[in-house]
Amino acid sequence: MKIQSYWLFLLLSVLMILGLGAALADLDDDERGERFYSRWFKPDFMVFNSQESRLYREECGSCHFPFQPGFLPTVSWQDIMSGLDDHFGENAELSDEANAHLLSYLSANAAGVVDQEIPNKVMWSLRYIPNPQRITETAFFQHEHREIPPRMLESEGERLAFSNCDSCHTRAMQGSYDEHEIRIPGIGHWDD
Ligand code: HEC
Ligand code: HEC
Repeated sequence: MKIQSYWLFLLLSVLMILGLGAALADLDDDERGERFYSRWFKPDFMVFNSQESRLYREECGSCHFPFQPGFLPTVSWQDIMSGLDDHFGENAELSDEANAHLLSYLSANAAGVVDQEIPNKVMWSLRYIPNPQRITETAFFQHEHREIPPRMLESEGERLAFSNCDSCHTRAMQGSYDEHEIRIPGIGHWDD
């Protein structure tokens, strides 16, 4: 290879990699999303059988769905865990020991710590609110749910809270948010 065409080849390669990076960063890139969500679903990400994970589901899954740690960055979990005495108007206080265990579980699996698709997308979307107190206020969440018309949130006159992920994502408990597994109560399967 001549030296000139070598540089051209190198330049093209770099441009391709940059282009690919930009495409991958696009929140709408469904194909990559699907691939990664199936990976996210793997039990090793959830650390499902660890003691911390069981404690987490027990303590943080009694009032609402136990959100996967990867939906928020560590700073958010720190804020949440240090304010449990007034947790969205409820008292969700724990013993110091349980609190420390859960904070370490949440921090070890938070967005920005694990290298997985959904947590990475959450990180990319944190430009405007760096320490969200809710998953539902992240730009990632709002982007993913922007197509759901308000009438779909009405089920038999009752407003369906977004915080209960598993009321629509039938396998959210297993860590799967696959589009094909969405069923909206009173409406049925989600068809894009
Ligand atoms: C006593 C009941 C109770 C317990 C226990 C509890 N929560 Fe909550 N949590 C709530 C309520 C109420 C809300 C607000 C729900 C809403 O507005 O839809 C909430 C909301 C949240 C949200 C925001 C959800 C969103 O809208 O994106 C997060 C995150 C959260 N809780 C984390 C935790 C963690 C972590 C624990 C365990 C340490 C925990 N919760 C334990 C009652 C509880
Ligand atoms: C009212 C029903 C409903 C609730 C409740 C709900 N979602 Fe969703 N979610 C959807 C729908 C519908 C889509 C698909 C949007 C689309 O494809 O345009 C979606 C998409 C997603 C996606 C992207 C999946 C993909 O493959 O592209 C994620 C991740 C997600 N939701 C997480 C959550 C989390 C976390 C919660 C709870 C905090 C939650 N959702 C609560 C209906 C819901």
